[in-house]
Amino acid sequence: MNTRASPSTTARCLYAGIVIAALLIVIVLVEAPVRAGTPSIFGPTPFGTTDGRQIYEHICQGCHMPDAGGAVGAGHYPALAADPTLVSRQYMALTVLKGRRNMPAFGAKHAIGFVGPPATLSSAQIAAVVNYVRTHFGNHYKDMITAAEVEALDEAAH
Ligand code: HEC
Repeated sequence: MNTRASPSTTARCLYAGIVIAALLIVIVLVEAPVRAGTPSIFGPTPFGTTDGRQIYEHICQGCHMPDAGGAVGAGHYPALAADPTLVSRQYMALTVLKGRRNMPAFGAKHAIGFVGPPATLSSAQIAAVVNYVRTHFGNHYKDMITAAEVEALDEAAH
């Protein structure tokens, strides 16, 4: 029996090799900005900003979508746009602090890392993102939460 690869098999192997090499290059290129220290839910947040919009864009919109419309796919990510449950600023702050079912916790005491140390947000950052979402995306709640109130919630709720 002839065990040598026929020319067409050789060509197919070569082609498959080229495809795999091209995919690896794409993966490296796509991953590069992530490894460059972009704050994200998959890494620690070297992230001093207390701008609620920036925090939303870096961390929350990956799941809740840029328009806060939520998503259904591998999981269910509720809409935060025009969300009646956000009437309670404490509910929203506790959700971000402690997590809720598939929603990850971002409070330093509660966050669990996926790969490496978890992303955490300070009380001031949690207050900023809560106030941002509750006054954007069709939410018009007037009462603001302060960093001190977030801290008090963190102390009270275990
Ligand atoms: C890894 C995905 C993920 C990220 C990142 C994420 N969330 Fe969530 N979030 C969820 C899921 C899933 C739920 C639904 C939890 C449940 O089952 O009740 C949720 C629920 C919520 C709720 C409750 C909504 C409601 O109507 O009850 C709020 C508020 C919320 N998230 C705010 C945020 C904010 C603010 C951020 C950014 C700091 C954020 N989330 C980041 C996945 C995520």
